[in-house]
Amino acid sequence: MANIQDLPKYHHHLITEMITMMSESEKNNLEQELSALDLEEIKALYEEVYVNRHVAAPAGEVTDVAAEVKRDMSDARIQELEQLGLEAIQAGRFAALLMAGGQGTRLAHKGPKGTFSFDGISLFQMQADQLLRLNEQLNVTVPWYVMTSDINHHETIEFFSRHDYFGYPDSAVTFFKQPNIVALSPAGELLLNAGSTLLTAPNGNGGVFEAMAATGIYNRMNKQGVTHVYLNNIDNVLVKVLDPVLCGLAVESNADVTTKTIAPLEAESVGRVIMVDDKKRVMEYTELPEGMENTFKNANIGIHIFRLDFLQEASQKELPYHLAIKNLAQLDEDFEVVKKETLKFEKFYFDIFQYAQSFCTLQVERHSEFSPLKNKEGRDSIETARQALLDNGIL
Ligand code: UD1
Repeated sequence: MANIQDLPKYHHHLITEMITMMSESEKNNLEQELSALDLEEIKALYEEVYVNRHVAAPAGEVTDVAAEVKRDMSDARIQELEQLGLEAIQAGRFAALLMAGGQGTRLAHKGPKGTFSFDGISLFQMQADQLLRLNEQLNVTVPWYVMTSDINHHETIEFFSRHDYFGYPDSAVTFFKQPNIVALSPAGELLLNAGSTLLTAPNGNGGVFEAMAATGIYNRMNKQGVTHVYLNNIDNVLVKVLDPVLCGLAVESNADVTTKTIAPLEAESVGRVIMVDDKKRVMEYTELPEGMENTFKNANIGIHIFRLDFLQEASQKELPYHLAIKNLAQLDEDFEVVKKETLKFEKFYFDIFQYAQSFCTLQVERHSEFSPLKNKEGRDSIETARQALLDNGIL
């Protein structure tokens, strides 16, 4: 609990100056928001994630993750896995989970990233089309869970409605929002947004598991007979949603976490999938210790299958926050809206791997499986994504 008078100096400096200029109702709103915060926790987070931050190699024996390489598999093996996967999908054992709560700042596209379109086909539609094809092929409706955030929830639902859910049964689609967390100034102060309420931001894609628990999704999935959750990003234009081969591997191995990877390029902005002692882990590209940029052979492309029972249990456990420094719009002391360097705190979904016991990894070919749309121009851009779509006959 906290109200403005009780705020430790550390946090209140800016807000107490500003509060004198606020209306009664603005003050009341703010007091209410503040009373829901645990300031001690925020202070500890600031110190741990920002003040005392350091990048170090993980403690433990770090090795490349053991991966089955698809290129080296026999056709018979691939067909066997595919068959196993299709049977499990048909039996209703898989749910699709799309993470689409991000801001897509680097792309500079107005609106949710999934609404970005190539020749009139949006990224959302590209993923829906694949689920539809499975629906037609197997006569099964895979439940599709779509994570949004405060910044794009309504626009996302509106886009789906406007496009008639791309022909997918709307009763099979569930939207849920990830949580927000306060953003701070580099001095550790709480900030206000343009609406004179606390400046907050989505808490990173690792917010997915707590959001699923909070909205009762695990229980629903259990009732639906789901045993595995297939998770992917919104921005890989070549993503195979519910790739039967990967599904087959997850079913066959019964691993808590099954991951698809590719070989990384030199200094590429992708997490590296590694083993630290006996646990699979993703070392994020923003946190790779110097000298380790080109050490590992498997890159994270944001495609994983989790056993539902593993997720449900692990979602009760803590995930660490990581630091992102972004230019965010906020009020300055004169109540002008300005963009300033701000500390954002983000959870990464793959940190949940630390609670898993068994892992399985499949390395696939980049040209047919990975082309992320991250930037307007240059690497991983509109142009490279379009070319990949053309090369793969999708456009
Ligand atoms: C991410 C991976 C990185 C991987 C790369 C492949 C993380 C933390 N890092 O990096 O290891 O190599 O993709 O393309 O995942 N999202 C949310 N809520 C948020 C933030 C992001 O739902 O608060 C979603 C995005 O909409 C997107 C996905 O998470 O679908 C990945 O987020 P993004 O910010 O694009 O991560 P990258 O830095 O590209």
